[in-house]
Parts: sequence; structure tokens; C-alpha cells
Amino acid sequence: MESAACFSNATTGRLPHRNAADGTLLSPFRNPTHLFLSRTLKKLPVQVRFPCLRTAFGSLNASASGIGTTISTEKESVDLDWDSLGFGLVHTDYMYTMKCSRGESFCEGELVPFGNIEISPSAGVLNYGQGLFEGLKAYRKADGNILLFRPQENGTRMMMGAERMCMPSPSVAQFVEAVKATVLANERWIPPPGKGSLYIRPLLMGSGSVLGLAPAPEYTFLIYVSPVGNYFKEGLSPINLIVETEMHRATPGGTGGVKTIGNYAAVLKAQSAAKAKGYSDVLYLDSVHKKYLEEVSSCNVFVVKGNIISTPAIKGTILPGITRKSIIDVALTQGFQVEEKAVTVDELLDADEVFCTGTAVVVSPVGSITYLGKSVSYGSSGVGLVSQQLYTALTQLQMGLTEDKMGWVVELK
Ligand code: COI
Repeated sequence: MESAACFSNATTGRLPHRNAADGTLLSPFRNPTHLFLSRTLKKLPVQVRFPCLRTAFGSLNASASGIGTTISTEKESVDLDWDSLGFGLVHTDYMYTMKCSRGESFCEGELVPFGNIEISPSAGVLNYGQGLFEGLKAYRKADGNILLFRPQENGTRMMMGAERMCMPSPSVAQFVEAVKATVLANERWIPPPGKGSLYIRPLLMGSGSVLGLAPAPEYTFLIYVSPVGNYFKEGLSPINLIVETEMHRATPGGTGGVKTIGNYAAVLKAQSAAKAKGYSDVLYLDSVHKKYLEEVSSCNVFVVKGNIISTPAIKGTILPGITRKSIIDVALTQGFQVEEKAVTVDELLDADEVFCTGTAVVVSPVGSITYLGKSVSYGSSGVGLVSQQLYTALTQLQMGLTEDKMGWVVELK
């Protein structure tokens, strides 16, 4: 079965506009005519070279490292209102796709215009949830350079998740090269320094048809990107969480420790109920004892008491966040004691500060926690000192504003 990229909702205006159905921001260049017309105004070639890559358009050049591909992209930033970016989809120019059959390895990928994909109604991902996703960000520096943060970690995590979900995975090198190619092809959508980042969403899915329950016969690796600002509507202001005592995100032996799509569908009910009551999000408890912290719907959680920062240990039900891991290392270098352990609700309620970490949320301070109808507030509704200190240290590194002594940042040009 072949999937083909196709266009929909062609637009006529030059300015980004909102999709009437779901409110997402639409690119001014979704119509192929506009895409190509816009390029005739300014054509700046970007070389994308890595083995097994071909593009839907552009010329093929032989190169020492494999097949070299030239695609035309504009480097000049798009005309977006960068100050009002939230965490919603903005359609960009290109996405990356690569397919392989069950039992084989990923080999040839391609950059194609961003658009809907065609998929069988009986695809494994649609029927049985055989799918994973990743999330990472690219930042634009003042000198024009573009930075990625620890992309190899995402590639490694996708490989581990793929093993759990019975899927073939791109190698870490293929993953990173595909991310780089997708970012460079969409360079003009990277927000200016300090205005946000380009969120990169790699997907791995069982795209082949199955009816009886089994691993799909074909897999698709796809990467799309979107410029984003803050994840929570609160921006960097503290969020208010409610502890969920009935519904659980994950169970021992399940898939909580990998980034499978079903983990996120499973939290929607509790999250929607919490939001309807005015909370920002939900903090889940372990499903066995119902007293140890797990994570928030889309991020990990940390509890601060004096000089000790604690976070739930990774034990199969908690996502091994890359921001989580980075914050632990940053906190250690700043002289904090960090404990990865079972953290109780009592410790949470007794904390000096609480914050969440994730690629999308970065470091998000928690202003209050509600548990069984009782609320506890942290600080005087401002951002806690430790959260602020760690947020600053991490984001300065990610944006290339401080020396990268950890070797975490990958420069694209
Ligand atoms: C991320 O932080 O990148 C995530 O994957 C969370 C997602 C629900 C936005």
C-alpha cells in the first residue's frame, strides 16, 4: 500500500489564516501554486545530503555521503505575528516521510510538501494504536544559526518505543538527519530569537492494513514541524494542577514508559474534566498504591524541598523525558541534591516548590495543587526561585546564549 502526500484546503490569501473547523493557523502557502510562485520571488537553495534521501521535487546530485538533494526554500522569515504564537499547529512548507515493510529497515526518505496523508482505514495505527511520537525543538540564534537540543536522545527513545510497540524504527543517525533536513527545509518558519521555537513532531506508525490483531505489514516515519510559543495559556506564570485519584495514565507492565500515542488519548477524559473546572492540567498517581506521583498529562513533575529536588523514578510507567533528564543534570551542576525515587502525595503537599518539565512545556512552575478537594499554594503566586533558576539555565543553553559545556546542542549551520 502506498501513501501519497496531497494538498487540501487551498487558500488564496498571502497571510496566514485560521481553519474555520478547528481554529488552527493555516499557512499562506498551502496551495502549490502559491508555494512555487513565492519561490520565484526569492530562491535560496539548501543542500540536504544523507543516504537514502530523495525529494518529491528538486534535482538529484551524486555526493560522497550518498544522494545529495537540492530543494528550494526561502530563508527570509514568514510574515507571522510571532508575539501571539501559542502551542497550536501552523502549517509549514515541507514534511519528511519514509516507509518500510515489517521485518525490513528504513532506507529511503523524502521531503514532500506539508499536507494530508492518505492511509488505509484498516491501518494498524488507526485500528490498534500502533504508533509513537516524539517532540523536540529548533531555536534560531541571533547570528542566524539554528540549534537543536539533544536530537539523538529523541532518536534513541523512538527506537526503544518501537521495540515495545513491535515496529521497525529509523536508526538514531537516520532520525537525526531527517530532523535536520526537515528543519532546514522549513527554516523560514523558525521564530526569531526569543519569540519561540520550531516544534518538531516525528511520528512512527503502523501504516499498513491489518484486520486481525497483529503488527502492521508497513510502517511510516513522518516528521512535521510548527512554530510554537508557550504550551500553557498561563505562559510562564504558575499553573494549577489537580491530582487525579480515580483515572490512571499507566499501569505496571504497560506502555507508560514509551511515547506511544495511546498514552495521550488515555488522559484526555481526566484532563478535559480538570480544564472544565478551571485547572491547567492533571497530576496522575500510581495505579497500585494510589499515593505516589507519576506525571502530568504532557510532562514530568519535580518537587523541591530546601536543597533537595525529587522526581518520580523511571520504572516503566513514567515517560523518560529528555527535559527531565537535562534538568536533573543542570540541577546537579548547580549544587542541588537530586533524588529519583517514589515521591508521595504528602511530599508534594509539603514542598517549597513544584515544577513540571517537558519539551513542550520546558520548565513550568506550579502555583497550586488540589488533592481530594484541598488546595495547597506554593510561594506567593509568583515563579519559585528554583524553577526560575533552572528554567533560565536550560533555556539559555537551548537558545545558545550560554556555553554548552554538556555537549547537548547541535548546530545546523
Ligand atoms: C512534548 O513535550 O513534546 C510532548 O510530547 C507532549 C505533548 C503532549 C505536547
